[in-house]
Amino acid sequence: MEIVVITILFIALLYALYHIKVTTQHIKEIIRLLKEYRTGNLSAMLFLKGKGIVGELALLINNVLDSNQRQIEKAEEKTQMLEATLRGMSDGVLMTDKNGNVILANQTLKKLLGIKTSPEGKKIPEVIRNNELLELFKEAMDTWEIISEEIEISINQKDIFVMVTAVPMYSATAVTGVVFTLQDITRLKRLEEMRKDFVANVSHEIKTPLTAIRASAETLIDTSLEDKEHALRFLNMIKTHSERLNALVEDLLTLSRIELGDMPIEKTAFNPEEAIDTVILTFKERAESKGLQIRKNIPAGTNTIIGDKNKVIQILINLVDNSIKFTETGTITIGITKNEKILILYVEDTGIGIPKDHLDRLGERFYRVDRARSRELGGTGLGLAIVKHLINLHGWQMKIESTVGKGTKVSIITS
Ligand SMILES: Nc1ncnc2c1ncn2[C@@H]1O[C@H](COP(=O)(O)OP(=O)(O)OP(=O)(O)O)[C@@H](O)[C@H]1O
Ligand SMILES: [Mg+2]
Repeated sequence: MEIVVITILFIALLYALYHIKVTTQHIKEIIRLLKEYRTGNLSAMLFLKGKGIVGELALLINNVLDSNQRQIEKAEEKTQMLEATLRGMSDGVLMTDKNGNVILANQTLKKLLGIKTSPEGKKIPEVIRNNELLELFKEAMDTWEIISEEIEISINQKDIFVMVTAVPMYSATAVTGVVFTLQDITRLKRLEEMRKDFVANVSHEIKTPLTAIRASAETLIDTSLEDKEHALRFLNMIKTHSERLNALVEDLLTLSRIELGDMPIEKTAFNPEEAIDTVILTFKERAESKGLQIRKNIPAGTNTIIGDKNKVIQILINLVDNSIKFTETGTITIGITKNEKILILYVEDTGIGIPKDHLDRLGERFYRVDRARSRELGGTGLGLAIVKHLINLHGWQMKIESTVGKGTKVSIITS
């Protein structure tokens, strides 16, 4: 009997020892897994065969780890989406904490501000040296409100205009930081300035001949009708100024049609000499009356050019018109040079010339070297703008060379 009891006890002891060993192994396995998980292996799983409490524990741990992993994946997905959005944004984004330390800046911002090193961890003024931006940060922190303002920032000695929006980030009780978005509006500002300049210029150009027409008409009404000679003078004045008004409107319409893309180029092969002859015929009388010689210089064998003949004539007319206006003595040459495969059409004069520092700006609407002198000669500064546009429409290039007191040469490089 005793032997039986001892045997049962022994078996029970053996079973208990076996159980303890298995449980210890399982717990060790759980510890190993949790350690692995802590070091970053988020896909680690428990594969325990045991049933009972340890099995239940393993199942529970697996479930917790699994849902944890899914949450982490979701968070990562969100971060990636956020990063992609920030990367793809055309606006610069700068995020700071409540102390004004930069937490994040997107690629657009770095490009906009020419930042080479990482701005994270730096204070706002170290990244963007601008007081107004700092003020915006303080205001957003104090008021908890979204604020927008247009500011001018100087970067590498260049000024840019940006529309800044400061959005405070807050928890239930405090502002935790500010997100700035910076939209580059430099081009818009320049366009706006150009528009204002344009309106001012057009108004001015229209006003001058209109005033002259009105004054002449008033004088005619008041005094000169009986005096035929006087009357003729004022009528001629009216005629000249109406012609000028007409020319201005025509030029403006041409420019606007070109800019609206409403002026198609119809390229054909034609003989450039024909175009040159038409232009010479147009100006012969005017040149002669000023004592100027007008001639052509075409190398033998030049028989074709591919372009829009009427527009080439228009280009040459505007150039020769300038040459006659700005030349007192000498010659105006319309010519062609051939440089390997490139054909260059040019108009050269022996006139007053253009100072070097003006050359880059020629071709801007209403740009004149000597405003008063050009206006006196009946010019509004639209001729070269039209020439430049027509040359660009062909895909050609314009080159202006000039020496003050010696003359000017405008070349059309057709290639
Ligand atoms: N051949 C030239 N010689 C000297 N100056 C020139 C010559 N061509 C152009 N310029 C200068 O460039 C300016 C711009 O020329 P542009 O043809 O655009 O205007 P404009 O002749 O004054 O007026 P518009 O052509 O509208 O009647 C002129 O006002 C003049 O100052
Ligand atoms: Mg002109």
